Amino acid sequence: MFSYAGKTAIVTGAGRGIGRAISLAFARQGADLILAARSVSELQQVAAEIRSLGRKAWVVPTDMSRLDQAQNLVHEAARLAGKIDVLVNNAGGGSSIPGGVGPLEEATPEAFDAVYALNVKGPFFAALRAAEYMKAQGTGGVILNIVSIDGVAPAPGEALYGSAKAALVSLTENLAIELGRYRIRVNAVAPSLIDTRLVARHLQTPEQRQHRASFFPLGRVGNPEDIAAAAVYLCSDEAGWVSGVTLLVAGGAKVPYEYFKWLRTVNPVPAEFRM
Ligand SMILES: NC(=O)c1ccc[n+]([C@@H]2O[C@H](COP(=O)([O-])OP(=O)(O)OC[C@H]3O[C@@H](n4cnc5c(N)ncnc54)[C@H](OP(=O)(O)O)[C@@H]3O)[C@@H](O)[C@H]2O)c1
Repeated sequence: MFSYAGKTAIVTGAGRGIGRAISLAFARQGADLILAARSVSELQQVAAEIRSLGRKAWVVPTDMSRLDQAQNLVHEAARLAGKIDVLVNNAGGGSSIPGGVGPLEEATPEAFDAVYALNVKGPFFAALRAAEYMKAQGTGGVILNIVSIDGVAPAPGEALYGSAKAALVSLTENLAIELGRYRIRVNAVAPSLIDTRLVARHLQTPEQRQHRASFFPLGRVGNPEDIAAAAVYLCSDEAGWVSGVTLLVAGGAKVPYEYFKWLRTVNPVPAEFRM
């Protein structure tokens, strides 16, 4: 089960963290990879790891918040690899964007546009372009969007980011309906706290790590391989009748209230919301 032999997959945000783990997991199952992000050196390291597993890897430097680059990635992938079987829209985030997290009433139009460009517009149009190739190939295909628990339930101080991820959840469901007739499946994975550079500042000491682990019934924070395993399933032929779902990978908590309570302490939310 879960063979990716003969498959070609695009993974965005593949240079580190969750995207790197997904790329390596796909390669171990037999896939060839097109790796996208902005930092070429990180992508080249991942490409070298994939080649050492005996698979092909191409690096396509891409800023997914730029619509032209997001769409060009798909065209370039098709040109390089000859076909596209899987697109994983993993690149995303809010905290690295100025004004991307914070009180909703202080949101600026610039921050709104930047957060939605990276988390909604880029992934959506990359998905449309990939679907065109998948339709023309006549082979079907899979699109997987990495969203967030913050897009499933509102999180304090994360409204722009969370609502953008919620939009991507909705687009996932709509694309699944409209592309199903071409045997193109579209799903999402919603992680909670995963140990990557994105959240490294919250996991610096053993005490912090223990505290954050206590949010989750399974007693630990997540790691990138937890998300990669979900991606391997959802993008495999074995998930051939699964489309339009958002799989929460969140340590056993449907809505981890303790996590949301803690977010109030670390995000610059209004004083009345602070613990
Ligand atoms: N870690 C968590 O706790 C967590 C929880 C829920 C959801 N998520 C989601 O999971 C996804 C991956 O996060 P992560 O934790 O793995 O983050 P990460 O460790 O910071 O890695 C992010 C990857 O995305 C790339 N990236 C960032 N901005 C980009 C852009 N504009 N265009 C293209 N690539 C870009 C980065 O490379 P460059 O900077 O070189 O471009 C890097 O390769 C994101 O969508 C995030 O929202 C993460």
